[in-house]
Amino acid sequence: MGELLPIELNLPSPLQELRDDRLTAAGLRVLLKRDDLIHPEISGNKWRKLKYNVAAAREQGQDTLLTFGGAYSNHIRATAAVGYYGGFKTIGIIRGEEHLPLNDSLAYAESRGMRLTYLDRTTYRAKTSVAVIDDLHRQFGDFYLLPEGGSNTRAVEGSAELPGEITEPVDVLICAVGTGGTLAGVAAGLTPQQHAIGVPVLKAGAFLEQEITGLQQAAYGARTGSWHLEYDYHFGGYAKRTPDLDSFIEDFRTRHDLLLDWVYEAKMMYALFDQIDRKAFPAGTTIVALIAQSTPVATPPC
Ligand SMILES: Cc1ncc(COP(=O)(O)O)c(C=O)c1O
Repeated sequence: MGELLPIELNLPSPLQELRDDRLTAAGLRVLLKRDDLIHPEISGNKWRKLKYNVAAAREQGQDTLLTFGGAYSNHIRATAAVGYYGGFKTIGIIRGEEHLPLNDSLAYAESRGMRLTYLDRTTYRAKTSVAVIDDLHRQFGDFYLLPEGGSNTRAVEGSAELPGEITEPVDVLICAVGTGGTLAGVAAGLTPQQHAIGVPVLKAGAFLEQEITGLQQAAYGARTGSWHLEYDYHFGGYAKRTPDLDSFIEDFRTRHDLLLDWVYEAKMMYALFDQIDRKAFPAGTTIVALIAQSTPVATPPC
């Protein structure tokens, strides 16, 4: 991607087999798609989601990227890094009030030159409205707008490239779902025989399925690829954790020397092993689990 950013990106990202007696017993193969190793600062689904947006911003002659996120957003961090390496000014619109000192995520974003500004929660909820966007233009002038989580048509197209990087025969791909852009793209990139499972990390209702379908309709004109959501693994909601999840993370770290990001990847991996326990996959199935982040994001206050 030298033409977009002057840095080395580890693409295609590595595919690693998970050696685990529970898988051997069930006759399954699980391969980890290590998107977290694409780049230390622009890892995983973040690069896939930002890539065509960076290209579009350049084409449009924009020198500023503006985006939205919570105080612990990985997307805010990644946008700050892309701006730093790609020569864009970046503006991060953060939900809620400023808390000082800044947490690790926001301190990092600021260290990469991002200008942080805050929107109260009510205004933040209306962030896609013309009134709020116009107001941001009055404050910050011209900018390339990235939605919260970076999930737009270009993000879907970038994510759709992931399955094509996998050279092994694969039946199922599983990934964590926040805004759904990654799943929308990944599912669209599957062959007709393959299936994608999305694991929402927030308490989601039918709205999430509609959002993902909507992203696919915007990108491809119709719901695309075979996919479904497993709703029962949010552990109380976004960035919520339980002792059960924590002990799963610790057990996984002991077995595989990999510390799963607890906001996203741990919930996805827990869902995978629970589904295996419930015999959801016939013996002989090969499953790819998308690891978009392996270091835990900072712990939000309870
Ligand atoms: C580590 C990680 N995994 C998965 C996701 C989910 O991506 P999406 O918002 O496209 O559903 C995110 C999104 O922020 C993430 O940071």
